[in-house]
Amino acid sequence: MKALILVGGYGTRLRPLTLSVPKPLVEFANKPMIFHQVKALAEAGVTDIVLAVNYKPEVMVGALREYEKECGVNITFSVEEEPLGTAGPLKLAESVLTKNDEPIFVLNSDVICDYPFKDLAAFHKAHGAEATIVATKVDEPSKYGVIVHDRDIPNLIDRFVEKPVEFVGNRINAGIYIINPSVISLIEMRPTSIEKETFPLLVDKKQLYSYDLEGYWMDVGQPKDFLSGTCLYLSSLAKKESSALTPTSEPFINGGNVLIDPTAKVGKDCKIGPNVVIGPNCVIGDGVRIQRSVILKNSNIKDHAWVKSTIVGWNSTVGKWARLEGVTVLGEDVTVKDEIYVNGGKVLPHKSISANVDTPQIIM
Ligand code: GDD
Ligand code: MG
Repeated sequence: MKALILVGGYGTRLRPLTLSVPKPLVEFANKPMIFHQVKALAEAGVTDIVLAVNYKPEVMVGALREYEKECGVNITFSVEEEPLGTAGPLKLAESVLTKNDEPIFVLNSDVICDYPFKDLAAFHKAHGAEATIVATKVDEPSKYGVIVHDRDIPNLIDRFVEKPVEFVGNRINAGIYIINPSVISLIEMRPTSIEKETFPLLVDKKQLYSYDLEGYWMDVGQPKDFLSGTCLYLSSLAKKESSALTPTSEPFINGGNVLIDPTAKVGKDCKIGPNVVIGPNCVIGDGVRIQRSVILKNSNIKDHAWVKSTIVGWNSTVGKWARLEGVTVLGEDVTVKDEIYVNGGKVLPHKSISANVDTPQIIM
């Protein structure tokens, strides 16, 4: 089977991290976001994956070559000269995607869940219509595409409303689809949106169904949701009793759901957790407290620092007795000086912070 992953877009909502690397390569639970998707697609029997890109493709090529080998799939890049939206990329890759009659998986690159690809393919085949959207329920549907069902036919979609202004329901598009090759013939070769243009056409033809996702789901394309998604992912690892999690028997573990790369070093008398990810080669000093946070690789958290609801970007340093909270995000190579307090700061790469940041703001 084949898949197309939509990896375009500038990932502006995940700045300052996406000033250094494209969103799909930002590590989620110590693996680039896109790696989780490629691996799950490969495990479901997908052999060919097209990456639809319009931003920094060079950086992605190297990383993806590795995953090709590791996961045993072919990955090709389909590069847009201008952003083609969420449907245009399918048209651009039409010749590859319509080589045979098999249905095609389509994914937004920033969604995490227990990808249900095998089940989804079986469900899609069983109802026989042209396309199926994976659906999940959320509390704040206005940020997403909302699905309204037909009254009589189970799972048939009667209306699809992208980012509704008024409440129409709370079952939303999870950003994962399976479509027949015939759907691509409905798309024109121009910048176009699958949500606003293609789905309504399919609804009119009564050819769009939804599949209810079980378990957790999150669009991790912005810092607050990236942290929430990390918590959900870690607790799902805990439920599966995954050996990837750091054992709670470690003296510094506080409350579980902690994932520490084996190459990271943790000092004496620390309290780490719950809900913490620490990347490769990080050095955590003595007496450090970290909760609900992600520390990306090669970063250094010095003695007695206190870190909560924060993402520390690559190669950064947090000084002694520093205190970070309130969805603070440090870009790559940021230094927070000793004893500094940062509340909700988004700090651009290569900055040094030597004065307190009391209220949420961008620091350039
Ligand atoms: N190749 C390519 N070209 N990809 C693009 C382009 C483009 O011009 N524009 C956006 N994308 C990719 C993004 O990288 C992302 O993977 C996906 O398309 C969706 O774009 P987002 O910017 O993340 O959209 P969203 O989160 O506001 O809404 C979408 O996702 C929701 C679920 O998280 C919609 O599909 C909603 O209906 C959905 O509920
Ligand atoms: Mg998104």
